[in-house]
Amino acid sequence: MASIETITALEGLRQRVAGWKREGLRVGFVPTMGNLHAGHHSLVRLARAEADRVVASVFVNPTQFGPDEDFDRYPRTPDEDAAGLEAAGCDVLWLPSVETMYPFGADNAVQMRVPGVTDVLEGERRPGHFDGVATVVSRLFNQVQPDVAAFGRKDYQQLAVIRYLVRDLAFPIRLLAGDTLREADGLAMSSRNRYLSAAERGQAVEIHQTLQAMRERLVGGSPADAVESMARQRLQGAGFEVDYAAVRTPELVAPVDSAGRRVLLIAARLGSTRLIDNLEFELAGT
Ligand code: PAF
Repeated sequence: MASIETITALEGLRQRVAGWKREGLRVGFVPTMGNLHAGHHSLVRLARAEADRVVASVFVNPTQFGPDEDFDRYPRTPDEDAAGLEAAGCDVLWLPSVETMYPFGADNAVQMRVPGVTDVLEGERRPGHFDGVATVVSRLFNQVQPDVAAFGRKDYQQLAVIRYLVRDLAFPIRLLAGDTLREADGLAMSSRNRYLSAAERGQAVEIHQTLQAMRERLVGGSPADAVESMARQRLQGAGFEVDYAAVRTPELVAPVDSAGRRVLLIAARLGSTRLIDNLEFELAGT
């Protein structure tokens, strides 16, 4: 049984954080939906390196799941989560209930909507998803009042949404971006990987391999649209249902220049499991 301090009441969290701040300590924060893996633990360590105390939240946020998505079956592993957070150096596990997070009910909650960056890719395929993310992250920021907060680069577009939110609402919080951690074969770590059957787990690495193939083609001078269709066909051939395989700039718009920073993003389904991954790199001029 982990002995990390677990707080479930907002008053308790406020007192703990206020006490730290009175002592002049800097507070780091890692928001999660639980079922934590090494990627989350690395975010705790990243926050720890920039702060004196670290709070991690575990809250499976109903407002960011669509009606046909996996809210009910999203893996909930509270004991393992607490033990892993403690081992990673987290001080407090913030575990709010739905009632604490949404006192008037999730359907009557004040909502955030981030324009622009949410209109494409994930935003197009998962309507309302980023509104739910922005809504809950704003609440978590208000509850925890951290100095720094760490998010993973695997959710590339989510990070862009949070950056916009923090700037636009002037949250006094510095964002830290953690690199994607990968399994030995290259599959990006994700809580959803545990949905994969043994056969699907074998196929799943194709996403990372396709991202690498996309980069190679771009570096070799292929145009972005040809690279996108190669990626789509390759993934479909490997048994995926593809939502997108996209070549974008870091602002998530289609590139117009022949050189510059690129991010390659894939979202694809294997059976009932939806996986996302991305690869960012500098494309030199040809
Ligand atoms: O990335 C996640 O796990 C979630 O989207 C977040 C940021 C914890 C908000 O619920």
